[in-house]
Amino acid sequence: MKKWRCTVCNYVHTGDTPPDKCPVCGVGPEKFVLIEEEAEKPPIKEKKWRCTVCNYIHVGENPPDICPICKVGPEKFVLVEENPDDLPEEKREAIQQLLFNISYGLYVISSKKDDKLNAMVSNTFIQVTNTPLKASVCLGKGTLTSEYVLESGVFGVSILSKENHDLVKHFGYQTGRDVDKFKDMSYVTGEKTGCPGLLNSICYVECEVEQTIDLGTHYMFIAKVLEGDGFKKEEPMTYAYYRATRY
Ligand SMILES: Cc1cc2nc3c(=O)[nH]c(=O)nc-3n(C[C@H](O)[C@H](O)[C@H](O)COP(=O)(O)O)c2cc1C
Repeated sequence: MKKWRCTVCNYVHTGDTPPDKCPVCGVGPEKFVLIEEEAEKPPIKEKKWRCTVCNYIHVGENPPDICPICKVGPEKFVLVEENPDDLPEEKREAIQQLLFNISYGLYVISSKKDDKLNAMVSNTFIQVTNTPLKASVCLGKGTLTSEYVLESGVFGVSILSKENHDLVKHFGYQTGRDVDKFKDMSYVTGEKTGCPGLLNSICYVECEVEQTIDLGTHYMFIAKVLEGDGFKKEEPMTYAYYRATRY
């Protein structure tokens, strides 16, 4: 059996031909290359660059001129640390493929700094205990939102529905360092925290940080859930559904 590697997300497909659609990032068969062909080339230890906006990985000596997923420039890419898990690269990749089977939801995490508001998309929000109501979220260190949460100690969470693709693009593919993401956006201001909740999402909760854990690349915030409000009855968006249907 042949092996085909997706040049966008590095997913490996086994079969005589490449798949019609990459199950991870959604691109077509033209983005796949035969791994055997690659193997014939002399092995070059290539660098990996991670897009800090959408997490796309680019392999090459330099970051790309433009991110193929979210269109930001090379200045938004950071060099990926070599072998951070202490695992052989192939093993790490195989385990990552297994971890893609975890189902995640998609959320817009908001926060504030003085009178400024900002928010980003995350798939890592989860409830961790029910009595008391506590939840956690992991936010990348380079994001403006994590900066606001560190400073204010509060965040809001809008739970996205299957109709919210536009919100994922708006809050997940650009940074508040470049644009005011809440300009022309319909939102409520949380009574307990002052963090915004999106009226076009399913519902909204307000959280107050109790513990911050430094994970190296990310901060994990563990928080008390203080308040909440429901806006719509729609089916929640999962990360897998978003990846399969994004346009
Ligand atoms: C589908 C999707 C899921 C994402 N999940 C996370 C996440 O869990 N943690 C994270 O740090 N960034 C995540 N991101 C990336 C941030 O949303 C993105 O870097 C954002 O532009 C940061 O905005 P800010 O700088 O205005 O805070 C995700 C992006 C997308 C599109």
